[in-house]
Amino acid sequence: MDIIHVQGSGPLRGEIQIQGSKNAVLPILAAAVLIEGTCCLKNCPHISDVNCMCRLLESMGCSTYWDEDGLKVDTSTLKESRLPKELVTSMRSSIILLGPLLARCKEASLDYPGGCVIGDRPIDMHLHLLKEMGAVFTIQNEHIAGLAEQLTGTTIRLPFPSVGTTENGILASVMAKGRTTLLNCALEPEVQQLCHFLNAAGAKIEGVGTDCLRIEGVEKLYPVTYMIEADRIVAGTYIFSAVATMGRIGILNTPVKELDSVLEVVKQMGCRLSLEGKHLEVWQKERPKAVSLVQTQVYPGFPTDLQSVLMTTLAVSDGESQIEENIFSNRFKIAGELVRMGAEIRIEGRRARIKGKEKLYAMSLLAEDLRGGAALVLAGICAQGNSLIGNCHYIERGYEDICRDYRFLGAAVEKIVRS
Ligand code: EPZ
Repeated sequence: MDIIHVQGSGPLRGEIQIQGSKNAVLPILAAAVLIEGTCCLKNCPHISDVNCMCRLLESMGCSTYWDEDGLKVDTSTLKESRLPKELVTSMRSSIILLGPLLARCKEASLDYPGGCVIGDRPIDMHLHLLKEMGAVFTIQNEHIAGLAEQLTGTTIRLPFPSVGTTENGILASVMAKGRTTLLNCALEPEVQQLCHFLNAAGAKIEGVGTDCLRIEGVEKLYPVTYMIEADRIVAGTYIFSAVATMGRIGILNTPVKELDSVLEVVKQMGCRLSLEGKHLEVWQKERPKAVSLVQTQVYPGFPTDLQSVLMTTLAVSDGESQIEENIFSNRFKIAGELVRMGAEIRIEGRRARIKGKEKLYAMSLLAEDLRGGAALVLAGICAQGNSLIGNCHYIERGYEDICRDYRFLGAAVEKIVRS
């Protein structure tokens, strides 16, 4: 098992560049299935979820490779529409390949991606939307076989602004017959980036950035070179890290416009922010103040993906705070590990009540999911002594090199590879 060793490091100081967005590049890689030829994704993050998506594309007969420009994806030799179970079930977002496969191959076959530690991760909304467009599914023993002779545009209202469902709807519509109107769409920046990528490839998507997307099906899409934007969740991770450690850091390429709800919370904690262009200075002079209640919401509300890092920060803040998790059913997993480090946290249904402590104590910890793992590394930095965090492969799904990043910010963090 690979382990991260973290020394209690005091206030973070330094500057950092943010990697490309995981949750933007994954649907864009799925969109490449719709485009015969080679697309180039610049600023693509080197993370294991991208590797997994590349393996899935290669299992379909596509080729992927990295060069000095970024990640190249050539789908001209795509011939297989059945996805390997071990890859699909290792990454929930593999479901995002369903729409493009039905659009390009008129058929698709994959296993249920399954739930994970943060929640059940059902796909009922994905299947319902695609059926509305003419797809037919046969489901046996957790295996999905889909057929779509011709996907046809229609008007569909999503029961919930699900990110993945919105993305599958967009991917199924851009080359469908006629016009599709998607209502109650997710507004997340990553959905908007997918639309910009597809429009650059020749799609006709209107209403980008609103909850109503109008998509005119086109005959063909063309290969593009596209720059992946900075990852707002990774940026938010280091913003909270500066707050939790009473540090002073600079983030060179901050997607500030996508972080309003996050910056609002850190200002309530007493953080000073100054922005020049995309260079954000984050300075926490005193111990962070508690925040009475933070509720995770769909974009532009507070992102569920920063809820764990927020919990670590509130665990060392001055006073009593509450977090309400409204997106996933089981996303307070790290509370138990933080309590072992001396934090005072009580879980009551969807709410976590946190009484901030001046000190956390080093511990041997286990990551159970991507964002929880990152929050445990931050807890180790805040703690006294040397912590070890196991299962750090979860963290590598979404962070290129969290140890490198934190070392840039002055923390003593290193990965120990154990056979
Ligand atoms: C995306 O997941 C992100 N993943 C998640 O980030 C993020 O937490 C989530 O959106 C919410 O912002 C990627 O973009 C790859 P949803 P997704 O569909 O699309 C329920 C990370 O750490 N739901 O918006 O799966 C679902 O159970 C990951 O980077 C259904 O009930 O999220 C959840 O409660 C974690 N039926 C809620 O909707 C469905 O068919 C929101 O899920 C689909 C979803």
